[in-house]
Amino acid sequence: MCGIVGYLGDRQAYEILIKGLKRLEYRGYDSAGVAMIRNGNFSLFKCKGKVSDLEETVGMSDHSGNIGMGHTRWATHGPPNDINAHPHLSNDGSLVLIHNGIIENYAPLKAELINRGHEFKSDTDTEVLVHFIEDIRDKTGANLFEAVRIALSEVIGAYAIVVMDKSNPQQLIAARKSSPLVIGVGKDNEFFVASDATPIIEYTRNVVYLEDEEIAKLDRTEGMKIVTISNQHKTPYIQELEMKLEAIEKGGYDSFMLKEIHEQPRSIMDSIRGRMNVGTGSVRMSGVDDHADRWRNASRILIVACGTSWHAGLVAEYLLEEFARIPVEVEYASEFRYRNPVIMPSDVVIAISQSGETADTLAAIELAKDKGAFIFGVCNVVGSSIARATHSGAYTHAGPEIGVASTKAFTAQVSVLYLLALSVAVHRGVMKGERLNRLMVEMNSIPDKIAEVLKTNDAVKAIAEQYKDSTNALYLGRGYTFPVALEGALKLKEISYIHAEGYPAAEMKHGPIALIDEAMPVFVIATHGASYEKVVSNIQEVKARKGKIISIVTEGDKIVKELSDYAIEIPKCDDSLVPLIAVVPLQLLSYHVAVMRGCNVDQPRNLAKSVTVE
Ligand code: M6R
Repeated sequence: MCGIVGYLGDRQAYEILIKGLKRLEYRGYDSAGVAMIRNGNFSLFKCKGKVSDLEETVGMSDHSGNIGMGHTRWATHGPPNDINAHPHLSNDGSLVLIHNGIIENYAPLKAELINRGHEFKSDTDTEVLVHFIEDIRDKTGANLFEAVRIALSEVIGAYAIVVMDKSNPQQLIAARKSSPLVIGVGKDNEFFVASDATPIIEYTRNVVYLEDEEIAKLDRTEGMKIVTISNQHKTPYIQELEMKLEAIEKGGYDSFMLKEIHEQPRSIMDSIRGRMNVGTGSVRMSGVDDHADRWRNASRILIVACGTSWHAGLVAEYLLEEFARIPVEVEYASEFRYRNPVIMPSDVVIAISQSGETADTLAAIELAKDKGAFIFGVCNVVGSSIARATHSGAYTHAGPEIGVASTKAFTAQVSVLYLLALSVAVHRGVMKGERLNRLMVEMNSIPDKIAEVLKTNDAVKAIAEQYKDSTNALYLGRGYTFPVALEGALKLKEISYIHAEGYPAAEMKHGPIALIDEAMPVFVIATHGASYEKVVSNIQEVKARKGKIISIVTEGDKIVKELSDYAIEIPKCDDSLVPLIAVVPLQLLSYHVAVMRGCNVDQPRNLAKSVTVE
């Protein structure tokens, strides 16, 4: 969702802003803009479309200046068009502002400002905010820093903002609440501001993550000053970034998604490294070990998440119930937060989020926290809002995921949740000895098995060629492979725009079977395991109605292969680990179908990488 970049220093701001906006493109957006200060005036350019369209708009116009801000907008208030694109000017044109988030009380503020003579050009809540700041500055005589503070104390909603005043090319103001913002600190009072660290790391590794309700004044002569909305002074905590530049580049692949699919043997290894010791038969999860009583005495586990992370949560439900023998409920965070759920202080809530910024998941955490539950986060982005809002947790260490469609984040989440389930089982005294050891050995072998599965790429591509023009697809699985069916369907629909549904295989006969005909591809995960024979029967039901069967089978399988139009073999492993390897051919399939249909796989239409609005 919206991307923010700001720069203040000796370099030319425009180049840094454009490069930074391109790094943030993965977040999803529909318009873009920049503003610099030159000779006491703003040079402001914005348009509907991509950053490349913005570059064309700027063309040969003078875009010089050592201070500036850039923005990619994901439309909320008003359609994506040139006028609604950010930056937005204040009423007298002296201030300019970019914003990520939603100002919920913008309507009454706007009405009041109109009464006071303000004129608005756009449909956005953002334009109201910059007018409001100007109004406070003019009414109270406060400087910009103070005017922003007063304005934000009256604003309801979520925001990350950058503001500048055309009469002061030495100063940027940045603030956040519920939307991420990071400040890069260069030498000699050079500053970078961004929604995440990706636009910053090639210039400096020193960063400050702004906390909720903090406002930063970045000044070429005075340096950095941070206050809270309630006017408390904060000492900036500068930390060193560990992220590498290569991690956010394509590294020779055609897309980030393809690169991230292929990174999975390594990313899973990074997720489990140091957390289990096959030799000593021990699992070490500090977020569990340090709060062992909460896990031992938990009456129930609630899992809250959205999208792909919710699918990882479903896998975790099966794992925790099987290994740790504890009841688990998996909830869409967006439903959970609004349905007055029963939450008990003895509950443990697991919040799963790649970005760590998903607004619905964050709100579900706050709700559960208020009721006294213990919250454990499973996040990929270090220092993210969810990582900070939880009582304890485990990072997935998958490295930056840039493709909007989650791939390596999903397998990293499932890997961490696998170890979590083993660890909780050990703490509750229901798993030990030979079984624990065997499962750890199996988990350890998964990266190599995924490397094997990646070799099916050409075979998967040939299948994609056959089904790329389908209008619908059905994905079936049972037990541990049911969440994989859901995830396979989500991958296909989000990047290729083919309608796809995931279903528990046995549930098909209660409705979706009516859709089956010779034009319907049915992707079935039919690996050897507890439900194998049952899934074979479900396949027969599809065949009887002339549906096409594309199966994921265990190597050496004969029965399902014979029934299938196409089959992809994956290595043998324990039932509980099948999701980790069975999902990989489905990721590849979606990728190839989308490419063949001419879709932008990294930035599918309408989607945002981190969904910071509810
Ligand atoms: O960052 P999160 O894991 O909280 O994001 C949740 C969903 O928005 C995300 O998984 C989404 O469904 C992906 N586009 C799926 O590929």
